[in-house]
Amino acid sequence: MAGVRWPPEDSDLPPPRPPATATTAAVPAEQLVSDDDRSVAADSWSIKSEYGSTLDDDQRHADASEVLSISNFPSASDYSSDKDGSDSNEVEASLLGLQSYWDSSYAEDLTNFHEHGHAGEIWFGSEVMETVAAWTRTLCADISQSQKAGDSSNCKSDSDSTSKDLSSWNVLDLGTGNGLLLQQLAKQGFSDLTGTDYSEGAIVLAQNLANRDGFSNINFLVDDVLDTKLDRKFHLVMDKGTLDAIGLHPDGPVKRIMYWESVSNLVAPGGILVITSCNSTKDELLQEVESFNQKVLSVQDMDQEASNQPPVFQYVDHVRTYPTIIFGGAEGSRVCTVAFRRS
Ligand SMILES: C[S@@+](CC[C@H](N)C(=O)[O-])C[C@H]1O[C@@H](n2cnc3c(N)ncnc32)[C@H](O)[C@@H]1O
Repeated sequence: MAGVRWPPEDSDLPPPRPPATATTAAVPAEQLVSDDDRSVAADSWSIKSEYGSTLDDDQRHADASEVLSISNFPSASDYSSDKDGSDSNEVEASLLGLQSYWDSSYAEDLTNFHEHGHAGEIWFGSEVMETVAAWTRTLCADISQSQKAGDSSNCKSDSDSTSKDLSSWNVLDLGTGNGLLLQQLAKQGFSDLTGTDYSEGAIVLAQNLANRDGFSNINFLVDDVLDTKLDRKFHLVMDKGTLDAIGLHPDGPVKRIMYWESVSNLVAPGGILVITSCNSTKDELLQEVESFNQKVLSVQDMDQEASNQPPVFQYVDHVRTYPTIIFGGAEGSRVCTVAFRRS
């Protein structure tokens, strides 16, 4: 959660089980993901109810005690050799870090779509999704404008030129889920839109919804961001909840490093990455980016010709309009959206 972490809702919950001797590959997926597990995993992590959940919160809360009391899922720290237990960034592993969770979840969403026309979960709620899309539009329009201001022959700003500017941004949404964020971005004027997700069910759902809602121009494809097959670079890369999910894998700390390496290859030079998270604060994301930058620079230091390179990602701006809360004397918001520019 961005800024403030809530205590567990049920103080009787058992501690995570002792370290396992193998990685998650040794944990049978069928043992991990039942319908109840999915609802509890979502409950234990998400803030969806605050922002307009489409799930039945009471039911999830009722399920939580029962299923978590029999849960023996290991914590992320059990697997990480590079973190000590006092790290405040530590987020416990959950089912939401596993592809099997998402495959089951989207299979259910697809059934609901076919039977009832439901779009499935809007992570962090529709208000956050709309805020992210509108804020991103302004950010990109401003960047396009300031680039044109450098070119004095072409600096007029009207809605026609803004639409033209936005259509020149090719956009990638990582872990797109049902793809509704891309639909919002299309409404904001972006037109070259691609969504990827490692769960095939998500991509089928997103494509169905886009076709139904009149956005059949959006491209969707199955792709794992940590092992991407994409060979294009994008001017704008969006992530809403995907790094959060990746960080919840039992090998989350390692996977997060893989994420930054992969994303640094997907964002075009001068392009923008917009991350929306509820498991990291803005400052934690800045720190994470800083350590990634340092890591890249330290490798480059060994290569004389590559030294004096700028940092890979630089902070640009963040959403300042999310409601804030105070908990335990600390003020924060439950979600953050931060933009970084790729050098
Ligand atoms: C919390 S959901 C967010 C979905 C969507 N971005 C939204 O805001 O509604 C996380 C998404 O990330 C996807 N995901 C997790 N790890 C991934 C990976 N390594 N590669 C691609 N997608 C991934 C999941 O399948 C899921 O759709």
